[in-house]
Amino acid sequence: MASLDELARRSTALDDPAIDHCGQLVGGWSLLSDLSFSDLLLYAPTDASASRFVVLGHTRSVTGSTVHPTDPVGNEVSAVDRPLLQRAMLEGRRDEGLVARSSGEPGGDPLVDETLGGIGGRLTVDYIPVRTGDQVVAVLARESDPGLLRQPNQAERRYRDVWERFAVMVGAGDFPLERSERVGEFREPRVGDGVVILDREQRVEFASPNAMSALHRLGVLTNVVGRGMSELDQDDRVVRRAFTSRHSTVGELERGRISVIARCHPLVEDRRVSGAVLLLRDISELRSRDKLLVSKDATIREIHHRVKNNLQTIQSLLRLQSRRLDSDEARGAVEQSARRIGSIAIVHETLSTETADVVDFDAVAHRVVRMVEEGLGSTDRPLQIRITGSWGELSGDVAMPLAVVLTELVQNAVDHSASDGSVDVTLRVAGKELEMRVVDGGAGVPEGFALDRDAGLGLTIVRTFVVHDLGGSISIGRADPSPPFGTAVEIRVPRPGPNLPVG
Ligand SMILES: Nc1ncnc2c1ncn2[C@@H]1O[C@H](COP(=O)(O)OP(=O)(O)OP(=O)(O)O)[C@@H](O)[C@H]1O
Ligand SMILES: [Mg+2]
Repeated sequence: MASLDELARRSTALDDPAIDHCGQLVGGWSLLSDLSFSDLLLYAPTDASASRFVVLGHTRSVTGSTVHPTDPVGNEVSAVDRPLLQRAMLEGRRDEGLVARSSGEPGGDPLVDETLGGIGGRLTVDYIPVRTGDQVVAVLARESDPGLLRQPNQAERRYRDVWERFAVMVGAGDFPLERSERVGEFREPRVGDGVVILDREQRVEFASPNAMSALHRLGVLTNVVGRGMSELDQDDRVVRRAFTSRHSTVGELERGRISVIARCHPLVEDRRVSGAVLLLRDISELRSRDKLLVSKDATIREIHHRVKNNLQTIQSLLRLQSRRLDSDEARGAVEQSARRIGSIAIVHETLSTETADVVDFDAVAHRVVRMVEEGLGSTDRPLQIRITGSWGELSGDVAMPLAVVLTELVQNAVDHSASDGSVDVTLRVAGKELEMRVVDGGAGVPEGFALDRDAGLGLTIVRTFVVHDLGGSISIGRADPSPPFGTAVEIRVPRPGPNLPVG
């Protein structure tokens, strides 16, 4: 569906400031629609003579029932059928009338002014010229079903009064307000959440039952009518700001675990603030759920941190052990075990710094490679391990085995590499698969190498993780047809989850 902007540019002759004004009005009019218990429509003329109008916007109230079950935005009406609409536009006059509903034929105008009785019933329409500066740019129409008008209760009468005051503001160019403070992460409070009407002295004139409940939870136990917010022991800055700035303001009222969002719309009359509508929405429930989630996240991170510490302790115990061994083979094996554990510790450490259960695998890969370099390289045996490509973010339970796999493959490559110790690691996202390739320039795997038969512990671990746990495949072979052949090991695993870069 076209936005108000697009629609206005396509179908009307409105200039940019006028379109902007209409956009602002529509941005803040759900309050007006709720207060009036009616549908609101914004009509803009398609030409200078206002012979036709297009519906630029529509909103339904949550308080009343709608007279537009289907979306009227983009519909056009002719001034011949809607003389009152045209007059509101051209003469800037507010008018109320009855219109007949259309007979519903396809392509027909949705509503026709005059009392054509009989054809699908009638609607009351209140036309309010929308002014900015001294120019009328559009017409706001309140459309409701007169049949549904029942005897209003006290709250409804109050709401309609306030709607009246807003309607006057729209006609005088005072609504939408010049500026509106933003509410932040939560949904805007609406009329149904709780309404307080304040008089020009910032005293409570009326409070709806839901507003009373919110105030009650904030510790207000007395009668509120005739009292100001500060007299009720409430933070009155939101209200004071609204009265002095004439902007729509927002703030939070708090008492213990209770938090209530307060939105204050000043009511302007003859350039002066004559009162305000204060909407209250209790968000304590949402807040405490938020806090719970935050602390759950923090706990999970803390656990990862502790697991990492424990693994590092095991790693150093194994290193201590290896130093006491005389046999090179035994020492190598224990050191290798220490590195396997180290690669798992790296993943836990990364998880302990993330809010979600994902890790940047590229960062993990770099740290794994550095760990192998530190363990196996020396001044007389320099290593050159390069990583190219990227896997992006992976969930913890996938990153863990893959970090161990990378450790094993790099370790083997280093063990068998050429004298310059060069090893190339490539990470690639290939369609629905993650691909890891580790290539060295050594003598290559022996002729007729078979994974099933020739795997030691290292490749057995790789196979268990890749094939059994992750449902992937391994291929190992010579990198080059001529000596020194070098070895290329390639693993492919199905790409999990949606959090990955597109390959
Ligand atoms: N990059 C490589 N270049 C040449 N041969 C390799 C390479 N990787 C593995 N191999 C061969 O495969 C065999 C099995 O490797 P594997 O990693 O399973 O065990 P290992 O490295 O011998 O011992 P460990 O269990 O400590 O890893 C190696 O002994 C070696 O012959
Ligand atoms: Mg090995």
